[in-house]
Amino acid sequence: MDAQDVRHVAVLGCGLMGSGIAEVVARAGIGVTVLEPTDELLATGRAKIEASTGRAVERGKLDAADRDAALTRISGTTDIADLAATDLVIEAATEDPVAKLALLRSIDLVVGAEVVVATNTSSIPIATLGAATGRPDRVVGLHFFNPPPVMGLIEVTPSLATSDVTVAFARAFGTRLGKTTVLAKDHAGFIVNRVLIPYLCDAIALFDEGFATREDIDESVTLGLNHPMGPLRLADLIGLDTVLQIAEVLHAEFRDGRYAPPPLLRRMVAAGWLGTKSGRGFYDYG
Ligand code: CAA
Repeated sequence: MDAQDVRHVAVLGCGLMGSGIAEVVARAGIGVTVLEPTDELLATGRAKIEASTGRAVERGKLDAADRDAALTRISGTTDIADLAATDLVIEAATEDPVAKLALLRSIDLVVGAEVVVATNTSSIPIATLGAATGRPDRVVGLHFFNPPPVMGLIEVTPSLATSDVTVAFARAFGTRLGKTTVLAKDHAGFIVNRVLIPYLCDAIALFDEGFATREDIDESVTLGLNHPMGPLRLADLIGLDTVLQIAEVLHAEFRDGRYAPPPLLRRMVAAGWLGTKSGRGFYDYG
């Protein structure tokens, strides 16, 4: 199928990333069904999309009528069988290899054999995820950045088994969503997280050593490097559980101490301090 012909996308997971991806797809004029295990999680995901599109209207990025139209394009289900007629799958579940593999095995049995199954994984090898399906040539990484409606990049990652046709389709679909795509190798972390994770781990270690306050670390980066936010606030935005998971995967892949998660990160995740999504991380979000 040509990327221009995609009329309906299934997004597996409607959390931080899944809700943003569903919003981006719907705003590009394409129908979306999101999958979550419970009605409560579907309602939470829908509320995130409503809040985000509301912000886009307030900031003059989206007409109110276009927002309403986008919202009508998004439906939700708890039954994976409802996704049978989709043209493209984007998996955006929690960054947990066991959960992702189980979900990919299930969706593989539901959607048509020709359908591309993309995954928003930020660190798990695409080859591993593709091998869980009967269509490894049609499994590809489509890695969005948080928050997806605002961030302009998608990393496209083929595994050794992904076909050139699937890669071309994935890049054309990213372009249709209004994003710039880059091609990354199927090594843990792809491009952005190989650079980002050692930087975040270093900032957390600096803070843990008492070298500088969280505010001074973040201000050094916002004012000294002109980044929109400092590393501790960014880690809170990404989710400390996700940062930990990616660091673990990178460390296991490269056996390089640069990726080793600092003890404070592990302790914060153990305490349930996951950043903005749990209300507390390096900062308190009320
Ligand atoms: N649709 C379209 N635009 C939207 C929007 C939406 N739903 N919501 C907000 N915006 C726009 C706003 O209009 C605003 O645009 P202008 O600057 O032109 O006015 C812009 O987005 C910023 O929005 P806000 O003013 O509400 O918020 P902010 O100024 O505090 O910025 C931020 C928030 C966008 C998150 C910014 O701080 C930022 O870019 N931070 C860095 C984020 C980042 O690095 N993300 C990548 C994380 S790594 C990752 O995701 C990968 C991984 O695997 C871990």
